[in-house]
Amino acid sequence: APLAPFANEPLLELRRGAERTALTQALADLDAHLPLRAPVIVDGAERGGLPRRSVDPGRPERVLARAGDASAEDAAAAVAAARRAFPAWSATPAAERAAVLVRAAARLRDRRYELAALILRETAKPWPEADADVAEAIDFLEYYARQAVALAEPRELVHVTGERNTMTYAARGVAAVIAPWNFPLAIPGGMVAAALVTGNTVVLKPSEQAPACAAALYDALRGAGLPAGALHLLPGGDEPARALVVHPHVHTIAFTGSSAAGRDILRKAADVVPGQHHLKRVVCEMGGKNVVIVDADADVDEVVPALLHSAFAFAGQKCSAAARVLVHADRYDALAERLAGAVATLEVGEASVFGVDVPAVIDPEAVERIARYTAMAHADGTVLAQAPLPAAASAAGGTYVAPLLVAGLPADCPLLHEEVFGPLLTIEPVASVDAACDIVDASPFALTGGLFSRSPATVAHVAARTPVGSLYVNREITGARVGRHPFGGNRLSGGGTKAGGPDYLLAFVEGRVVVENT
Ligand code: SER
Repeated sequence: APLAPFANEPLLELRRGAERTALTQALADLDAHLPLRAPVIVDGAERGGLPRRSVDPGRPERVLARAGDASAEDAAAAVAAARRAFPAWSATPAAERAAVLVRAAARLRDRRYELAALILRETAKPWPEADADVAEAIDFLEYYARQAVALAEPRELVHVTGERNTMTYAARGVAAVIAPWNFPLAIPGGMVAAALVTGNTVVLKPSEQAPACAAALYDALRGAGLPAGALHLLPGGDEPARALVVHPHVHTIAFTGSSAAGRDILRKAADVVPGQHHLKRVVCEMGGKNVVIVDADADVDEVVPALLHSAFAFAGQKCSAAARVLVHADRYDALAERLAGAVATLEVGEASVFGVDVPAVIDPEAVERIARYTAMAHADGTVLAQAPLPAAASAAGGTYVAPLLVAGLPADCPLLHEEVFGPLLTIEPVASVDAACDIVDASPFALTGGLFSRSPATVAHVAARTPVGSLYVNREITGARVGRHPFGGNRLSGGGTKAGGPDYLLAFVEGRVVVENT
């Protein structure tokens, strides 16, 4: 039967007591089963031991999972296995591959509370964001399933008498997916789903901080009937990722992470190595330095909560997060004062506490990086607000940093130009919306952006001028929904693909044309 039209998975209504009780129960059940296991899996079989650990960033003595430490040899074995499985999986009808994704989505839906609890514990992602992560993973599976069925239809071409022309899309081969920790189910889920449903076989290298979430994704797909050869799991550090990038039998690399790492992959993937008979394609989603422009006619009541959520939810650890506010000089004092008041009252604390705004950041390295920018803020600018750190939470060894609102930085300060990936927001006055657009245009990043304006002419003008991948008007600038808000950056923020959009699957296939004189 044809699939019903795509609709986004509804988010949980977390103000309801029943939902909270279910989530709290799921967390208790999870805690009773820790640590989980996240081994290296090639061809359905475990390899090696479990020497690595993933921990709760809010309470690092809580070990979430014991995980494998994949080596370059494991990566080679996974690619070889994926290559063996490719002929059969790529020849499986698209509708059957799509059905596997839909069944995997159903499995995630059935385990929704449990998976939100796992995401919360492994990445310190607060409840609303953890729930949205599960919903987005379900959405990617359901959406790409439908897109793949549509893509399997022959394309419309021009025909002339005596000639029959067909164009179809074929899977490229083995895809290596290198995933981040900040959307530990949704982002690997999306990249893996897109590669699999188009007929590629996949080697997944999850983030070292979130191997248990990747193992849950693997289980959902295999439980849905995915053949063992179609997906291989390589938890570990950089070694397996590096090995995959330079492997002669990897055809496509789908990467989401930092700009520096993405450029490194692009460079290395450009080399054709012995035994390689194709050009590698790199799908890369990288960093941002996302600006929100606030015009003189904006409604400050709307701006403050939207900015707070965009900049500080999940401690600003999203590539889409707001980093820099440029506000018309006429409204600067009013907005700076209101925003400072709001930032000062942000609640920092354990992700599991309903209502916590800012959780622990992912690891001690993140604390150090953010501390460097915090020092810059104090030395070179004016800190308008800093939320207090809870003594109890920090006492548990959690990697907490204080959310900050900063003004008065010199135009060349790195804090205004580099991605912090933490709970720091800067605010500056500008003379006009065009002056703000000039600043946006001078940035090498172009991922998301925001505009608050009541004038349709201003909205149209900024939309025409901005280079960003997604411009959000009069709302928060994070939380792209699959199918509705295709997501991906331009310039140094990404290769131009749009995850959750109608063209995304094209990155995972190659066109084949047959011209037949009849
Ligand atoms: N897709 C996420 C968002 O829109 C970021 O990766 O916030």
